[in-house]
Parts: sequence; C-alpha cells; structure tokens
Amino acid sequence: MKFYLPPQISRLAIAFAVFITLFLVARHFLVPETFGQYGHYRGASLDDNAMPVIHFSGQQACLDCHQDIEDLKLQGPHKGIHCETCHGPGQAHVVSGEAKDIFKPSGREFCGNCHSSNAAKKKETIHQVNMSTKNPGKNCTECHNPHQPWKVKK
Ligand code: HEC
Ligand code: HEC
Ligand code: HEC
Ligand code: HEC
Repeated sequence: MKFYLPPQISRLAIAFAVFITLFLVARHFLVPETFGQYGHYRGASLDDNAMPVIHFSGQQACLDCHQDIEDLKLQGPHKGIHCETCHGPGQAHVVSGEAKDIFKPSGREFCGNCHSSNAAKKKETIHQVNMSTKNPGKNCTECHNPHQPWKVKK
C-alpha cells in the first residue's frame, strides 16, 4: 500500500514549520540575555537591584550646606515638610552643589498642590485657600516666604 499524505496535512506542516521558526527567531531577540541564568527571571536583575541609582538624598544631606534654611523652616508648621518634598530628588545636587541639578518650585499651583481647597481634605489638617479668589494673578511667594510661609508680607 502506497503511503499517501493528504495535501492539507502537508500545508499544515509547512505552516507549523514557519510559525515555529518565527517563534524561535522572535524568542531569540525578545528574551533578555541573562534570563534563566539562575531561575525563572533575568539574572542581571540581581545586580540592578543591588545597585539602584540613588535619586533622593534625605533632608539631612541638605543641611550640611543649607542649615540656615532649615532653621527658618523649623520655627513653624512647615517644619515637618522635608526639603525634597518641595525640591524633588536632590542627590545629584548634593554631589554637584550646582543650581541646575535641583528643582526650584514656582507658581501658584505649586503651593496649591497642598493648600488648594478641596472638600475631600479635612479643614483641621491643613489650611486651605480658594485658588480662584486668593490674590489672583499673584505668585504666593510674593507675600509668603517659601521657607516661613506663616510670615507674610502684606
Ligand atoms: C555640598 C553643598 C550642598 C548641599 C549638600 C546641598 N546644596 Fe543646595 N546649593 C548649594 C550651592 C553652592 C547652591 C548655589 C548654587 C548656585 O547658585 O550656583 C545651592 C543652591 C540650591 C538651590 C537653589 C537653586 C536655584 O535654582 O537657584 C536649591 C533649591 C537647593 N540648593 C536645594 C538643596 C536641597 C533640597 C538639598 C538637599 C537635597 C541641597 N540643596 C543640598 C550647595 C549645596
Ligand atoms: C514648602 C515647600 C518648600 C520646602 C519644604 C523647602 N523649600 Fe526651598 N524653596 C521653596 C520655594 C517655593 C522656593 C523658591 C522661592 C522663590 O522663587 O522665591 C525655594 C527656594 C529655595 C532656595 C533658593 C534660595 C532661596 O532662599 O530662595 C534654596 C537654597 C532652598 N529653597 C533650599 C531648601 C532647603 C535646603 C530646604 C530644606 C531645609 C527647603 N528649601 C525646603 C519651597 C520649599
Ligand atoms: C507638601 C505639602 C505642602 C506644600 C507644597 C506647601 N505647604 Fe504650606 N503647609 C502644609 C502643612 C501640612 C501645613 C501645616 C498645617 C496648616 O497649618 O495648614 C502648612 C502650613 C502653611 C501655612 C501656615 C498656616 C497657619 O496659619 O498655620 C501657610 C501660610 C502655608 N502653609 C503656606 C504655604 C505656601 C505659600 C506654600 C508654597 C510656597 C506652601 N504652603 C506649600 C503643607 C504644604
Ligand atoms: C498679596 C499677598 C498674598 C498672596 C499673593 C498670597 N497670600 Fe496667602 N496670605 C496672605 C496674608 C496677608 C495672610 C494672612 C491672613 C490672615 O492672617 O488673616 C495669608 C494667609 C494664608 C494662609 C493661612 C491662613 C488661612 O487663612 O488659611 C495660607 C494657607 C495661604 N495664605 C496660602 C496662600 C497660597 C497658597 C497662595 C498662592 C496661591 C497665597 N497664599 C498668596 C497674603 C497673601
């Protein structure tokens, strides 16, 4: 008896061969090099996690050079707000001491992030201002010292 391969089977076989080849090629490019080195994860991720890039320095590092500002801030209700809460991650600036490496907040919206009135915030927790009626058109820091905002220039 002659072996007879129906044509639809051979076409299927060709299709499978093409798909498997494409899969293997794609896998080669998509799976990271060190995947599976130790287990079902990327081996190099161990080094990445052991040496994360440091972005925040912590407030203590700022005080080596800016203790004067901390002294102002300590005298009132912003004392619990750390430098990097407002100035953003500061490690690069701590290393360089250069102005370009640190964020200097400005604009009404910046203070509004915490102080804009919002029914979801408790009045007892934070003083809230209506941003549309609170001295419109003026920057908050024209009157409020950013590091002692409870002291106001009238
Ligand atoms: C090694 C000393 C040093 C440390 C530590 C340091 N600074 Fe500074 N900082 C400086 C100097 C110097 C300047 C003035 C740079 C200039 O005017 O070119 C400055 C300027 C600034 C400015 C003004 C930037 C501007 O655009 O005018 C801000 C804001 C600031 N520092 C915040 C911080 C914060 C927040 C930290 C902690 C995360 C910090 N600094 C840590 C030395 C330091
Ligand atoms: C509540 C937010 C806030 C906190 C907290 C804060 N700053 Fe600032 N800081 C500002 C704002 C806003 C300005 C910009 C003032 C301006 O443009 O007149 C500023 C300006 C500065 C400047 C530029 C020079 C000056 O005095 O205007 C330095 C330096 C600085 N901050 C350092 C610090 C350090 C160091 C800390 C922590 C001890 C700190 N800041 C905490 C909001 C803050
Ligand atoms: C990260 C949140 C945050 C930011 C940003 C912030 N504040 Fe505050 N502020 C507070 C908290 C918390 C208090 C303490 C609770 C209170 O008294 O409202 C406070 C207190 C104050 C007070 C004292 C209110 C009082 O009479 O006791 C003033 C005024 C003030 N902030 C103005 C400002 C100004 C102006 C800015 C922008 C330069 C600013 N704050 C940015 C959180 C913030
Ligand atoms: C023209 C000057 C001026 C400007 C601009 C200004 N303030 Fe004030 N702010 C004052 C004065 C004056 C007081 C004190 C009011 C009092 O004691 O009755 C005050 C009080 C506050 C208080 C605390 C007390 C309260 O009554 O809730 C907060 C918070 C505050 N301002 C936030 C801001 C924010 C945020 C901005 C910017 C969006 C801003 N201020 C812009 C002058 C100003």
